[in-house]
Amino acid sequence: MTSLNKKTIEDIDVKGKSVLVRCDFNVPMKDGVISNDKRIVAALPTIQYLTGHGAKVILCSHMGRPKGEFLPEFSLAPVAQRLSQLLEQPVKMAKDVIGLDAKALAASLEEGEVMLLENVRYHKEETKNDPAFSKELASLAEIYVNDAFGTAHRAHCSTTGVADYLPAVCGYLIQKEISVMGGALNSPQRPLVAILGGSKVSDKIGVINNLLEKVDTLVVGGGMAYTFLKAMGHTVGASLCEDDKLELAKEMLAKAKERGVDLLLPVDHKAGDRFAEDCQVSVIDGLDIPDGWMGMDIGPASVALFCTAVKKAGTVIWNGPMGVFEFPNFAEGTLEMAKAIAESGAVSIIGGGDSVSAVTKLGFADKMTHISTGGGASLEFLEGLELPGIAALNDK
Ligand code: 3PG
Repeated sequence: MTSLNKKTIEDIDVKGKSVLVRCDFNVPMKDGVISNDKRIVAALPTIQYLTGHGAKVILCSHMGRPKGEFLPEFSLAPVAQRLSQLLEQPVKMAKDVIGLDAKALAASLEEGEVMLLENVRYHKEETKNDPAFSKELASLAEIYVNDAFGTAHRAHCSTTGVADYLPAVCGYLIQKEISVMGGALNSPQRPLVAILGGSKVSDKIGVINNLLEKVDTLVVGGGMAYTFLKAMGHTVGASLCEDDKLELAKEMLAKAKERGVDLLLPVDHKAGDRFAEDCQVSVIDGLDIPDGWMGMDIGPASVALFCTAVKKAGTVIWNGPMGVFEFPNFAEGTLEMAKAIAESGAVSIIGGGDSVSAVTKLGFADKMTHISTGGGASLEFLEGLELPGIAALNDK
């Protein structure tokens, strides 16, 4: 595992320097309007520190996957506008990334001023981590700051390549992600309880494997639980099940036993007769699900079992909902877990993706210690993988 003890913006003198800051401004857009600005808001502390310390701030990011084409629907111009409002100062928008406009704007920046380059993925070299493009991007600045945790699992020019040419440090967002999530994995307040959900075992194999080496209790809910239950010899009816992962589930069950990890699976279910919001609903006692029924949420006894584990926890890491929480009939398991985590007093970390939407939608976001800004990145972090965007930064 690479060091997580990285230099930060506070370890480097930025006064009067041009600083290239990689942010993750890959925000959801609807009809040309930003529908959720959380990622922009999350970048503000780093930007404000830099402007407050006299840096000339050159922001860059990707938006979507334009695959090397200058497609207007992937322009970062709406982000510059929103940032100007949030920072209460103008954010100059460049027409290109490493072209004449970007270079002229960068050269004209005064201390405390902010500009934003166009979408770095307008150049196909970006995602290839092409050294010439990295060098060109780096030539705009004297210092590189990575604050794009959501993209830290990508080895691209703007996330890793530029660090070959400039002193490279992390911003507050990456610093917080690695200190909270790294702390939870490497020196947690125990018991450490991980709750994994979501539909597929195959999406989380690496995470399960790594967490089994760290946690005291592993709770498995959501669609992936049925593959485990079938591997233990139970019937799962019409529930989601990955038959090609049954052997793997058996290996994981054996690993948990070997390592003394308490692996908790649902002991009852809330099932539907088909995958639809208005389906017939039945609570099924016991582990077996009869033919014609599909497990779509954990049942009340499972909620009680899982919540008891959460109440005793010193640290909880949660990734993946307990059921089809988008359908009100099957949201209770996820809601009760969110509530239990919020009330537990444990260090609580919500690791990306659907669990973040669930916690936010259900109104518990401000009750959690940390909500990761990375989807894929936080999963890879929990898998124990090296994130290239973090590995490339200078050690303290
Ligand atoms: C994300 O939204 O997960 C990040 O911005 C990364 O985007 P990508 O999957 O297109 O690299």
